[in-house]
Amino acid sequence: MSDANKIYVMPEENLVEVKGLKTHFFTDEGVVKAVDGVDFVVPRGKTLGIVGESGSGKSITARSIVKLIDRPGRIVDGEVLVRRRDNSIDNVVDLPQNGESIRRLRGREISMIFQEPMASLSPVHKIGRQITEMVQLHMGLDKDAARARAIEMLKRVDMPKATQTVDSYTFELSGGMRQRAMIAMALSCDPNLVIADEPTTALDVTTQATIIDLLMDLQEQMGMSVIFITHDLGVIAEIAESVVVMYLGNVVERADVDSIFHDAKHPYTQALLRSIPKLGLEKTRRLSAIEGMVPHPFRRPRGCPFHDRCRSFMKGVCDELVPPIETIAPGRQVRCLLYSDVDKVRAEQAESARAASAAVEHSEVST
Ligand SMILES: Nc1ncnc2c1ncn2[C@@H]1O[C@H](COP(=O)(O)OP(=O)(O)OP(=O)(O)O)[C@@H](O)[C@H]1O
Ligand code: SF4
Ligand SMILES: [Mg+2]
Repeated sequence: MSDANKIYVMPEENLVEVKGLKTHFFTDEGVVKAVDGVDFVVPRGKTLGIVGESGSGKSITARSIVKLIDRPGRIVDGEVLVRRRDNSIDNVVDLPQNGESIRRLRGREISMIFQEPMASLSPVHKIGRQITEMVQLHMGLDKDAARARAIEMLKRVDMPKATQTVDSYTFELSGGMRQRAMIAMALSCDPNLVIADEPTTALDVTTQATIIDLLMDLQEQMGMSVIFITHDLGVIAEIAESVVVMYLGNVVERADVDSIFHDAKHPYTQALLRSIPKLGLEKTRRLSAIEGMVPHPFRRPRGCPFHDRCRSFMKGVCDELVPPIETIAPGRQVRCLLYSDVDKVRAEQAESARAASAAVEHSEVST
């Protein structure tokens, strides 16, 4: 865990750096390692796509960035470095859970858009009031300026009849309009980073495409960074510059978008690519299932967590050794034993196991 007095640095072009992040849930049934060693970078003004099947830890990774993790969950290790508006760098992991600093970060610098608009919108207040409260609180605008800002934001998200909709309640809006209202609210304080967690999954295909285009236009106009979480590699191809592929709490591949689509290294990424329905053959572009099932978090397979679904499985290797993440080119990482020196990994893991069992013996003798 990091040190509260430490000074953090990161390259000028980066807005967020996540390093060795582990977020676990301590349930009565056992520990769920929802995020178990995740590293990535979000450059300023760029879009990072996070993709993976259900349960791979995408949402918990996103929520960890703004420390929105409730009990029994806890960030147990790693750093989340965030560049603030004044260019200072904080490690979010060090900030008190509900202190002023993290609240300012969530309100003014990083905002989230969810699949379900009602996760952020209130059913009992008018849309305009919800936006004006945000901008009054975080941007210090007076009442009239805040209302003008609310109308401006609703226009920016192409909300039909913005000057009237500002006085509407959510139940008066369609699904697509609610999604626009949520985006307007999320962007109203001009954040540096927007985390969009499957923002279009619940919408029909045409509205999905419109909302994605809108988000990308706004990103360009406002110069913010975006983390876009999805099951849909097709969407990633359209919007992201870099991609993180997650499986069972780990990043299994990290690369620029072209490398992911033209030269995927990890067998899981390759399986995800095979599962994209061919255009025109399917009504939706959601992932069709890849072979096998994501293991239950309490039944994590020994060795590589993907080994019982992998076409490149190597007996005696993949079911025994845990693949380390390897950097195979600048900005390109893969967690698969096909790209590791297996003898070296075997020797290192045997040594760690020996050291761990010696430590247990030592503690048993001394108690
Ligand atoms: N409050 C909680 N208590 C226990 N386990 C949890 C809790 N929240 C999430 N998890 C577990 O953490 C793991 C990762 O969950 P997460 O929601 O990040 O997955 P995801 O990749 O976002 O999936 P989806 O695509 O379905 O949204 C899952 O195994 C989930 O069951
Ligand atoms: S380590 Fe082995 S099982 Fe895991 S992805 Fe690579 S080849 Fe497949
Ligand atoms: Mg999720």
